[in-house]
Amino acid sequence: MDPIINAVLKPKSIAVIGASTKPEKIGYKVVENLKKSGYQGAVYPINLEADEIMGYKCYPNIKDVPYVIDAAVVTVPAKIVPKVVQEAGEKGVKGLSIITSGFSEVGDHALEDEVVRIAHEFGMRIIGPNIIGVLSNSDQMNASFANFLPLNGKAALVSQSGALLIAMDAATYTRRVGFDKMISIGNQADLEVADLIAYLNEDENTTCITLYIEGLKNGARFMEEARKCTKPIIALKAGTSAHGAAAAASHTGSLAGSAKVYEAAFEQCGVSQAQDLNDMFDTTLALSLQPMMKGDNLLIITNGGGVGVLATDAAEKYGLPLKFAPEELQAELRKHMPSFGSAKNPVDITGGAGLEGYYECIKYAYPHTWVDGMAVLYCETAVTDPQEIAEAIYNAIQESGDFSKPVTVSFVGGDRCEAAMRWLIEHDIPTYNAPDLAIKALTTLRKQEQMLQTAHNRPYKPTDVDPAKAREIIAAARAKGRDALTEVDAKNVFRAYGLPVTATELATSEEEAVRMAAELGFPVVMKIVSPDILHKSDAGAVKVNIKDEQGVRDAWKVIMENSLKYKADAEIDGIAVQEMAPWATEVIVGSVNDATFGPTLMFGLGGIFVEVMKDVTFKVAPIDIATAMDMQSEIKSAKILQGARGELPRDQKALANVLAHYSYMVYDLNDEIAESDANPVIVYEDGKGVMVVDARIILTKK
Ligand code: ACO
Repeated sequence: MDPIINAVLKPKSIAVIGASTKPEKIGYKVVENLKKSGYQGAVYPINLEADEIMGYKCYPNIKDVPYVIDAAVVTVPAKIVPKVVQEAGEKGVKGLSIITSGFSEVGDHALEDEVVRIAHEFGMRIIGPNIIGVLSNSDQMNASFANFLPLNGKAALVSQSGALLIAMDAATYTRRVGFDKMISIGNQADLEVADLIAYLNEDENTTCITLYIEGLKNGARFMEEARKCTKPIIALKAGTSAHGAAAAASHTGSLAGSAKVYEAAFEQCGVSQAQDLNDMFDTTLALSLQPMMKGDNLLIITNGGGVGVLATDAAEKYGLPLKFAPEELQAELRKHMPSFGSAKNPVDITGGAGLEGYYECIKYAYPHTWVDGMAVLYCETAVTDPQEIAEAIYNAIQESGDFSKPVTVSFVGGDRCEAAMRWLIEHDIPTYNAPDLAIKALTTLRKQEQMLQTAHNRPYKPTDVDPAKAREIIAAARAKGRDALTEVDAKNVFRAYGLPVTATELATSEEEAVRMAAELGFPVVMKIVSPDILHKSDAGAVKVNIKDEQGVRDAWKVIMENSLKYKADAEIDGIAVQEMAPWATEVIVGSVNDATFGPTLMFGLGGIFVEVMKDVTFKVAPIDIATAMDMQSEIKSAKILQGARGELPRDQKALANVLAHYSYMVYDLNDEIAESDANPVIVYEDGKGVMVVDARIILTKK
């Protein structure tokens, strides 16, 4: 655990620089909150004139304090911040929470950089600026201007929005979701989300990390720390509108958007994404209180058929369809329900069931080896008391002595149910007022387990690649002043990274084209090769299925004419003569450089699927073969590759190999390739391989 970050988040002594005597000021609130929260460490208010605030002795300057100070909370106006940070450094303070606004968030990057520079000169770290502060139940420390500590619990919130943190702080009491810590990170001038993930992973009071993110400073570092983290992470990402689509030069560029890339990155590093604030609370409740679900066998126990069906639907919707319980388990459960009940799954112990029914069934089923996770549902009835049922559920689980698998509960009813649900949550059992929420929570616990397994996979690094060759081709194009590669050059770069491309020759005269076509064998394809004509079909500069010499001669003339009509001053290298790949299933593979996460791979089916339905999926590069297989099943039209309507399955292994190699290429050439497409890529029947037919590479600006 980083001792400096620890000193900021768990200080033994705190100075409040800019502490005020006026109750309406933030500098007063922070001192008051430290006192009210019962903070046990020393508090030193720093104020130019006051003698004491809230009973704490004041000092005019932090350097006048004759004791060691771990952390300082800064609440003086922005322009004074560099001065007080300098003084804190000279005093030997370890770290700072800078509440003050008025830095990069309003465009003053220089002032923010200055403050970080001074802090680093003294080895100090900064949270903020532009924050609410830090709150911690386990340290009885409210070093913020939020009114009170959150409901005590096991989650930790890291929030980029201060206002949202204050609102969530209050909402913890109504939502009954407990947090140990709430950390406002504001502008992340120094400490960023990744640093806090690393810290909280080692914090003994945190079981689950909840993030509210607007933008990450460094996507790669975030992914690295999230991958290392052994605790579940749930993130609500705000601001997911598409970016850069209009300006994108490649097909992939126009389909990428920050939302899709964040979604992919979260999944790849094992972070669950919350859909909204409610989902964030609901998921945090489950992730903070329950272990992850290690298998797919979900058992539902209910006293109501209706909620059982709703839960069954939810299980299927969220990717964990129910299976019938094994016969031996069913036989035991049948002993504790009327003859008209059902022991299959959902286990319906029927409306007349009392606490014994719940108790006996749970006590047997919960520790059963077949069961990986359990949802207990209850509908309020006239013959049962919700509190008694809650206690029966809790006791049965406790007495089973097995706490290795998750359980969630849903009570549907009135005030008595509300009270019983609170009781269950206080006893660490996540409880929801709708059955689908209890199921969704369990499926997230399952998904977290699966994501954590794959998130730790080592990235793919193929050996059959020739980066030097690729860089040579790119350097030659740059030397000609080009910002995009021609198809011929792009294919040669692809080839250098082990991608199968159609045999392609560059002809600089009609006669050469005739000779090359004969050598390649008919039919052939001819395409203009010009850095100024990237969308060759739009220019009428592509001819396919050319069957003989006369065809080559005709195509040469038409392509040249059309190209010059399209762009009179186009720089033309010649015409590419290519083998014509037999047609099969068409897919698109491409890449864009995302501003946050770097090179990002896209995959989808080609033609109408990509043009109209935008049925594509993204991953942050590089990816391994297993992830490349996942990408193929993630698209909606996945069945087409698997062999739909009597067709043979496509060569998904060869395609995975192409995706993984491609991802490595764009990762390795990150400094050179801004965007790229392999479009189309033809995928043949299983065992018959894959062929890249067209290639496009847009170079980075240098
Ligand atoms: N050393 C010690 N104390 C000093 C110094 C100094 N060098 N200079 C000034 N002070 C004292 C002042 O005398 C004053 O105390 P007093 O009230 O007893 O006289 C105190 O520090 C505060 O200074 P003020 O000039 O009165 O500043 P004010 O309290 O009005 O504002 C603040 C300071 C709160 C930091 C303000 O500049 C600010 O940034 N506000 C926004 C903070 C915020 O909202 N952050 C979270 C954003 S996130 C969200 O979404 C909500």
